[in-house]
Amino acid sequence: ILLIAILFIAAYLIGSIPTAVWIGKAYYGIDIRQHGSGNSGATNTFRVLGKKPGAIVMFIDIFKGWLATSLAGLLVIFEAIPAEHIVVYQLILGALAVLGHIFSIYERFKGGKGVATLLGMMLAIQPVVALMCMVIFLIVLFTSRYVSLGSMIAALAFPILLLLPRFHPDNPILIVFGFILFAVVALTHRKNINRLLQGEESKANIRIGRRK
Ligand code: G3P
Repeated sequence: ILLIAILFIAAYLIGSIPTAVWIGKAYYGIDIRQHGSGNSGATNTFRVLGKKPGAIVMFIDIFKGWLATSLAGLLVIFEAIPAEHIVVYQLILGALAVLGHIFSIYERFKGGKGVATLLGMMLAIQPVVALMCMVIFLIVLFTSRYVSLGSMIAALAFPILLLLPRFHPDNPILIVFGFILFAVVALTHRKNINRLLQGEESKANIRIGRRK
């Protein structure tokens, strides 16, 4: 029980790391939340600071989700849970990291929109379906140039693909969690949804920051 509690807290703290804010401030002297969409995520880092920091933030935010979810393996190794329950703990740990990213303890419970961290979580649990979601994201991004639309469609694609017999998981709780996490992503994107509906969402490719 103690180990489970420690790992739950660790997952939340890992997810909470505000990568975009820290990299923007440390290397560019820019608070990412004052620019672009104001979101502290990889997309806004690409938009405001450019490709390299954007890619670094994206990689770290994905890694946070993967790492937190993978902590579930420790529970099996230390025999705190039976191996067949691992997916339940992967889901809880991954979800805690996603929530940490959205409600960061280091930034007064504000944060990003959870997409990259959710992707890391999906990669740790169901890599094949996660890669398919990434392809779907890229197709939507390149055809519409809206990152937010790609993010939401890819997040929804995850549980939908799991409904297919080929990818049907042993434990259907994965599908239920998939839909819940899509709902979370839709909520964090509510401003994007409004902008999309009004035709005011910004398309990929604007840069204002300069390296100091
Ligand atoms: O991952 C976040 C993305 O879907 C939208 O980001 O900065 O355009 O609101 P942003």
